[in-house]
Amino acid sequence: MIKASDISDAARCLREGGLVAFPTETVYGLGADATNDQAVARIFAAKARPRFNPLISHLPSAEAAFELGQFSTEARQLAERFWPGPLTLVVPRKPRCPVSLLASAGLDSLALRVPDHALAIALLQQTGRPVVAPSANRSGRISPTTAAHVKHSLGSAVDLILDGGPCSVGVESTVVQCLDDQLVLLRPGGLARETIESVIGRPLQSPPKGAALHSPGQLESHYAPNAPMRLNAESWQSGETFIGFGPAFPSAHSLSATGNLAEAAANLFRLLHEVDALNPGRIAVAPIPSHGLGEAINDRLRRAAAPRDMA
Ligand code: TXA
Ligand code: MG
Repeated sequence: MIKASDISDAARCLREGGLVAFPTETVYGLGADATNDQAVARIFAAKARPRFNPLISHLPSAEAAFELGQFSTEARQLAERFWPGPLTLVVPRKPRCPVSLLASAGLDSLALRVPDHALAIALLQQTGRPVVAPSANRSGRISPTTAAHVKHSLGSAVDLILDGGPCSVGVESTVVQCLDDQLVLLRPGGLARETIESVIGRPLQSPPKGAALHSPGQLESHYAPNAPMRLNAESWQSGETFIGFGPAFPSAHSLSATGNLAEAAANLFRLLHEVDALNPGRIAVAPIPSHGLGEAINDRLRRAAAPRDMA
């Protein structure tokens, strides 16, 4: 159980430039004071993350986020409708925005998010500053959805880990870029594209080809288990451990026995961790539908299965 004193210790640690791993509804984040260049630099070092990868600043409320970035009418509409929740909005920085330029990796935009998690909100309120938090894993490895995953991946590189139990959503936030009156889906995630489109009344745009520069976190190989992967597997082959989905593709390791995509998202990274720990010759994964949260699940699986040379 988390005590009130654990949260105030963690907030103090952040204000003093430390690194604190904390739960959100999506995945565990590795937090640092976003206004402290040295603390932000420590995150890149702890994750062994490429320098050019910009970070999301986390705030306890939409009002706090509105102070840092310039929100168009539609961006504000999305913020008011979906925050707190698994949505990150990329907006232009306001002049005199105190967030470290290192966190933006040299871009003049800023990624902002209000997580839907009581412990995270309490921590952000007490810290009293924006907190940058990438997923709390070494770069390129599977994202953590429990405190044990964080400990296993980052160990002593983190000063403090707040354990809030397993994450309810299980995949990272959906990232929407709101620049020049365009709304671009940079990363599918825990909030389904269709849900966002129903609020704005038009389709989200796709990033132009070769847009890695605009969202450099989107390297092909990512979320990599040690074992190679085979996707859209309709049957199991010898040497493989099979991850199932729905009644048509049952397995002892099923993302969701009933075929529920929200349950599958919540189980995704935990199952990849568990199955990978069995040291299989290969991990085969049943076909996953591509609607709703299936878009984010298939995106993460595709990255997990991609050639590893870019990791
Ligand atoms: O659910 C989440 O979003 C988790 C939890 C901890 O909140 N955080 C997370 O952070 O996934 P990270 O650093 O692993 O992913 C940040 C994503 C990357 O794809 C990055 O390229 C994009 O956000 N991003 C950040 N700032 C950006 C910017 N200014 N312009 C475009 N993309 C940006
Ligand atoms: Mg990540």
